[in-house]
Amino acid sequence: MALILKTDIERGNSWHRAFARLLPDVPLRDWRAPGDPEEIEFALVWAPEAGALRKFPNLKTIFSIGAGIDHLASDPDLPEGVPIVRMVEPGLTAGMVEFVVMSALYHHRFMLDYAVQQREKVWHEIEQIPTFRRRVGILGLGVLGAACAEKLRGFDFQVSGWSRRPKDHAGIESFHGADGLMPFLARSDILVCLLPLTTETEGILNAETFAALPRGAALISAGRGKHVVEPDLLAALDSGQLGGATLDVFRDEPLPPDSPFWAHPRIVVVPHIASMTIAETAAEAVAANIRRVQAGQAPEHVVDLKRGY
Ligand code: NAP
Ligand code: GLV
Repeated sequence: MALILKTDIERGNSWHRAFARLLPDVPLRDWRAPGDPEEIEFALVWAPEAGALRKFPNLKTIFSIGAGIDHLASDPDLPEGVPIVRMVEPGLTAGMVEFVVMSALYHHRFMLDYAVQQREKVWHEIEQIPTFRRRVGILGLGVLGAACAEKLRGFDFQVSGWSRRPKDHAGIESFHGADGLMPFLARSDILVCLLPLTTETEGILNAETFAALPRGAALISAGRGKHVVEPDLLAALDSGQLGGATLDVFRDEPLPPDSPFWAHPRIVVVPHIASMTIAETAAEAVAANIRRVQAGQAPEHVVDLKRGY
């Protein structure tokens, strides 16, 4: 019995240290030197090559290093019947909460305008709006979206969320399903995308959805790049329908040097760092799930591949 790990070398060392402490009886194998494939029962991976997981005939559980599992769902040759577990761990959640709160406050306090003013040496005060007058809408009210919603409520923003099924979070207005999308957008001065990438959500940030937002709304895109129809985003920014955007994820990563996003005055670009899985805290979640499987129980946070998340 062994656990195989596919990550970069630098982060691999942190995982090795954590698993040596938490799972001393489970040998940890490196993706480049897997040893006997029959011994591999657990795989903890990010973006394995298509078909690669099939090489392990006794695989019991596949763990995604990230919350998103689109890097696995896109493999047409996954081993059948092996559960896929998405990453749910406190370090990843805390990082996303920090990023979303920071970015929402950035747009709320007109920092994009002040950055332009600084470059132009302009001293001009923009009237401050209290948080209780600002409406933040979160697309995807799952583990990450709900944690961000709760923290934003703490700042007194008016917070709502959109999900497939209705939610009951204190102080957070819940919208759901196709019928709930337009009314949700109409009350989102700051729109945060924390959806998984699925066939239903690809391209959801497009000309029609941007037009449904209040004029001058801001976008924080931290789900996946393929949620955004990039030419529509540029058109909405250039027309003033969108006032600004913070983009963490892109259709092509790394963002190509010739992308117009880099130099756009109303766009903040960051390199897919909204949140990262922290080996130290995530290894605890993976180890607990491995112990469940070893005890004959089903792992937690298994994704539904038909649904796509
Ligand atoms: P999650 O707990 O599975 O939550 C997903 C949410 O999206 C749920 O509320 C779900 O609704 C909703 N949803 C899915 N499909 C929908 C649809 N068609 N219509 C309406 N709502 C829909 O996932 P999570 O852990 O919060 O992670 C969310 C995503 O964040 C990941 O998939 C990943 O792409 C992204 N992410 C990005 C970074 C980064 O650094 N940029 C880091 C981590 C994660 P229900 O609750 O009704 O099922
Ligand atoms: C990162 O993008 C993740 O899905 O965790």
